[in-house]
Amino acid sequence: MTTLIDGKALAKKIKEELRQEVDTLKEKGINPKLAVILVGDDPASQVYVRNKSKACEMVGVEFDEFLFPSSITQEELLGTIKKLNEDDSVNGILLQSPIPDHLDIREAFETIDPRKDVDGFNAINVGKLSIGDDCFIACTPYGIVKMFEEYNIELEGKRAVIIGRSNIVGKPMLQCMLKKNATVTVCHSKTKNIEDIIKEADIVICAMGKAKFVKDYMVKDGAVVIDVGMNRDENGKLCGDVDFENVSKKASFITPVPGGVGPMTIAMLMNNVVKATKMQNNM
Ligand code: GUN
Repeated sequence: MTTLIDGKALAKKIKEELRQEVDTLKEKGINPKLAVILVGDDPASQVYVRNKSKACEMVGVEFDEFLFPSSITQEELLGTIKKLNEDDSVNGILLQSPIPDHLDIREAFETIDPRKDVDGFNAINVGKLSIGDDCFIACTPYGIVKMFEEYNIELEGKRAVIIGRSNIVGKPMLQCMLKKNATVTVCHSKTKNIEDIIKEADIVICAMGKAKFVKDYMVKDGAVVIDVGMNRDENGKLCGDVDFENVSKKASFITPVPGGVGPMTIAMLMNNVVKATKMQNNM
């Protein structure tokens, strides 16, 4: 039997719990605020930012948007981040990626105060995650960990495969799963015999950005399949990196697209904003 992991429902539950926490903070005169920087006019980024603003509204977090044209200079971008670092009313800072090629996103992420780095992309937080210290964890891997916990999916001793080695998903996911004592293989565009590696996995996490890449013959019977992809299929319909219709017949647990990982990413962003707010108020 296959269990559908309902990311949308779990995200709603998490946001409701956070709403109560935010109400309590507000009673103490503390108003959590997230500042989001969006550069250029990438339509997907605009949708992501809109969804983040809706989540802030639901949780009671103030949302401040900083929109810049693609022509912004690196100095202007860094200047904006520095101002937000110094603004005590701002608890979290998020720079939506991607940004135009003439800008250095790594330098921008390193400029964000690690205490306000709610995306967990600053090297301080990346480093802390890798040594197991308390830190801001990147929202997508963190959301996937929460799904495992909610559905009592044990990772200890399991063989896991992560497809994709991005700084946003693949690498922090590796750290999260190592912490839970899984044995993890990270595959990427240069990996040979990727299908053989996927076939051995108890847990498959796909974040490669290729529509319906993971097919039923590639996965082991009873595998847990987590789909981070967000693509359009040949008919323009939203789909993940997993051929859901067929793989869902073989998996023990599987996430849908949409309604799986996506909503959890945003819920964990809200979690990180509340965490940042409490930390900055010595709570
Ligand atoms: N672009 C795609 N995913 C993300 C994310 O989680 N955070 C930011 N800042 N940009 C993204």
